[in-house]
Amino acid sequence: MSFSNTAVVGAGTMGNGIAHVLALNGYTVTLIDVNEEALEQGTDTIASNLQRQVNKERITAAEREATLDRIRTHTDLAQAVSDVELVIEAVSETTDVKGPIFETLDEAAPDDAILASNTSSISITWLAAQTSRPDQVIGMHFFNPVPIMKLVEVVRGLDTSDATFDAVERLALDLDKTPVEVNDAPGFVSNRVLMPMINEAVFCLMEGVASEEDIDTVMTLGMNHPMGPLTLADFIGLDVCLGIMEVLHRELGDDKYRPCPLLRKMVTAGHLGRKSGQGFYSYD
Ligand code: CAA
Repeated sequence: MSFSNTAVVGAGTMGNGIAHVLALNGYTVTLIDVNEEALEQGTDTIASNLQRQVNKERITAAEREATLDRIRTHTDLAQAVSDVELVIEAVSETTDVKGPIFETLDEAAPDDAILASNTSSISITWLAAQTSRPDQVIGMHFFNPVPIMKLVEVVRGLDTSDATFDAVERLALDLDKTPVEVNDAPGFVSNRVLMPMINEAVFCLMEGVASEEDIDTVMTLGMNHPMGPLTLADFIGLDVCLGIMEVLHRELGDDKYRPCPLLRKMVTAGHLGRKSGQGFYSYD
């Protein structure tokens, strides 16, 4: 199966990044969100990220224009997916939001359409169970910033078919990404490994082992990570980090996944990282 007509649900950071790479690689994309304001913000972000790529001479101004021309927007989910071959859902990470979206996608998208989710922590098998086509439901987990990061975790739910997996793996390659096959498990591979590291960095801070800057310097200069764990946590969003730790703790049961109380306290205070202007660091 090849995809000419695609849709992305959710125009936030991940959704607009996914629409960006689809459109840049020649796919027609309908970007869907609940209101015009969210869509406008999403398309503005795509336009400015494409401009970065023009400025760096990675793409031409004509390619930027052609990419933008391939993106349409819609606020009605059911109408927007009525003729697509692939939907990638990238809305907020709660089952309350994602569950009904998968039900609607199942009712409104063509019978042979593949329904993918960019979820980082919700079970693909559970999302598939909200539909009547579990063999055509799959995880397609991108990384922020999507236009730059090369990885896509392609996540098989219990009933995902080989045909669905192969089509999505081919798509990831066509988007110039490196797909990695992962079975459905809490946090998949990426967040099962990354989030306990971030959580441990927060424990180090809470216990006074070192300052924010010094913890980050250990990991940037000592381990060659592009960002230290606390800077990265601010970049991802502390609420997202906490949500993923809670899933790991609940589903895997081991105390080693217990969210750090300081992480929880910061989220309670509304210190969510870059997006709120305050996390482990301040952003003005
Ligand atoms: N769109 C387009 N281009 C972008 C971009 C975007 N959104 N963001 C950055 N860029 C480009 C820049 O223009 C620059 O391009 P060139 O290489 O052509 O010069 C390049 O990316 C590097 O950017 P900068 O020079 O501004 O800054 P940097 O060198 O510090 O890199 C970074 C920034 C790529 C974000 C780097 O710090 C990095 O890799 N950080 C780690 C990111 C990471 O770990 N992401 C995963 C988070 S986890 C997740 O997403 C999944 C989850 O489930 C939680």
